[in-house]
Amino acid sequence: MKQIVILISGRGSNMQAIVEAKISGAQVAAVISNRPNAAGLAWAAAQGIPTIALDHKQYASREDFDVALQAAIDGFSPDLVVLAGFMRILTPAFTRQYEGRMLNIHPSLLPAFPGLQTHQRALEAGCKLAGCTVHFVTAELDHGPIAAQAAVPVLDDDTPDSLAARVIVEEHLLYPTIVRAFVEGRLQIDGLRVHVQD
Ligand code: GAR
Repeated sequence: MKQIVILISGRGSNMQAIVEAKISGAQVAAVISNRPNAAGLAWAAAQGIPTIALDHKQYASREDFDVALQAAIDGFSPDLVVLAGFMRILTPAFTRQYEGRMLNIHPSLLPAFPGLQTHQRALEAGCKLAGCTVHFVTAELDHGPIAAQAAVPVLDDDTPDSLAARVIVEEHLLYPTIVRAFVEGRLQIDGLRVHVQD
């Protein structure tokens, strides 16, 4: 049984989609949040999933926090670490530790719009398509081998909120699909490209 640790910072709707997908051969071993009051933490606990709150404000430096986070994650010996709305910049030592076995979802068609406020920036740039990306995590923020993307149309009367609502529907479909492919050993990293076997 492949062990998955999911990191969240807030609502946790992508985490919920992955848990509810009930991927065979995989178990969500733990959900960890850097924000103790993250709504997703309560949801996970209600499902009987072990949860840990690790408040980043209690640590003197980014390095100290990442060392503590790594210790918490490694307590579950995960095969895969899933970032699901985990809003932290990670240290290179941390990303190296999970190279090739840590996925992130980002609400843009990377490499366009890394960072924050992706939907507002896509609207300002006049994009006709927006979307989301699941990628392997590297030391560079929102960069790394792309496993999958989903695109949605941008409509004339879209606001950042209406666009986000259209994109999140795709996130909830895309992320469990790619986690399943990882669990089944169907993802092969080749430079910045990822080959996904059927
Ligand atoms: C999602 O839209 C996810 O793509 C985004 O945060 C949201 C979390 O929602 N992640 C990032 O912006 C990472 N750079 P959720 O907590 O309901 O899954």
